[in-house]
Amino acid sequence: MPKMNCLDDLNVGGRRVFVRVDFNVPLQGGRVKNDARIRAALPTIEHLRRQGARVILASHLGRPKGKRAPEFGLEPVAAKLAEILDDEVRLADDCIGDGARKVAQDLRDGQVAMLENLRFHKAEEANDPVFAAELRKLCDVYVNDAFGCAHRAHASVEALPRLCPERAAGRLMFREVEALSKLLGKVDKPFVAVLGGAKVSDKINVLNNLLGRVDVFVIGGAMANTFLAARGLDLGKSLVEADKLGVARDFLRAAQEKGAEVLLPVDLVVAADADAPAGETVPPDRVGPGRAAFDIGPASVAAFKERIAVAGTVFWNGPLGLFEKPPFAQGTHAIAKAIASCSGFTVAGGGDSVAAIGQAGLEKMFGHVSTGGGASLELLEGLKLPGIAALEE
Ligand code: 3PG
Repeated sequence: MPKMNCLDDLNVGGRRVFVRVDFNVPLQGGRVKNDARIRAALPTIEHLRRQGARVILASHLGRPKGKRAPEFGLEPVAAKLAEILDDEVRLADDCIGDGARKVAQDLRDGQVAMLENLRFHKAEEANDPVFAAELRKLCDVYVNDAFGCAHRAHASVEALPRLCPERAAGRLMFREVEALSKLLGKVDKPFVAVLGGAKVSDKINVLNNLLGRVDVFVIGGAMANTFLAARGLDLGKSLVEADKLGVARDFLRAAQEKGAEVLLPVDLVVAADADAPAGETVPPDRVGPGRAAFDIGPASVAAFKERIAVAGTVFWNGPLGLFEKPPFAQGTHAIAKAIASCSGFTVAGGGDSVAAIGQAGLEKMFGHVSTGGGASLELLEGLKLPGIAALEE
């Protein structure tokens, strides 16, 4: 666990606290569609308010590429937060400049303001020190509660905290780093890693870094196709990363040498295309030309569940099938339930897995559900995340 100050180490009463949050939330029709990331930051916001801090929240939303774009404005997010807090949240029309400074200066103890989208300035993603110095003018103290952005060396995440001698990790950042770092330390065995999603290339570094720690790798989703193809199977029209067959073979060999078990699907739900009203369950060597795999089948679910049920620790990232389409959602939902029922320490990360957990209403049954997709993977790859490095003493 990296050595970071926490909120309790800070003196915030009557002071302006810049809080980098990850309010990069989905919007629909000008309203927040899922407020989980906003609620995840509440323990930090509420603590700071109770201490009489003047809270200045800053976030990005989407990828506006350095331009002001109304569809990426934070107004709906500020409105949602005001509704949750049942209090006023003033939104500055920019994140730097006179307007932002006035909003910050006018704040009274315990009040909350929000800055407009940091990524309306190219300088944010460029980690520009001049832009960071402008943000610095707004505050006395810096808090980073944006775990989901900890892997981005952006100005509000990396350069700014280095300009703020009084800085700390927020409650969410702390909880995230603690839970995920646990997986890289001494864990209860057996340790089962369930990895899904589309591409081996997105997950191979995590797979390799977990070799030697994990006892059983359970692999599903389209990335399992590449592993099955690496074993010589013809997967028909299924998504296969043809240029990653060697990488998959190397991993299978390395896992065998380390004594780790790799479970691949023993049956697949296949269809002519993703819009088919239903699929057919077949063994992996019977996909056939003109069809593609979109989910794992019931025999795979049963085999995977057996390992998950007795695990001391489970890490899950990535859906096991095309779960956003009901005919292909069963594998992902069944595995989500199996992990939720496991009595070991369970951690899930990644937007799609977290969405599946949310759909099934299982959040509370997990040891930890990460708000960070890319950030949680990079941490488990063993990388030093810029946002965490900048908070370390
Ligand atoms: C996320 O949604 O994963 C974070 O907010 C980071 O967003 P980004 O991938 O656009 O940097």
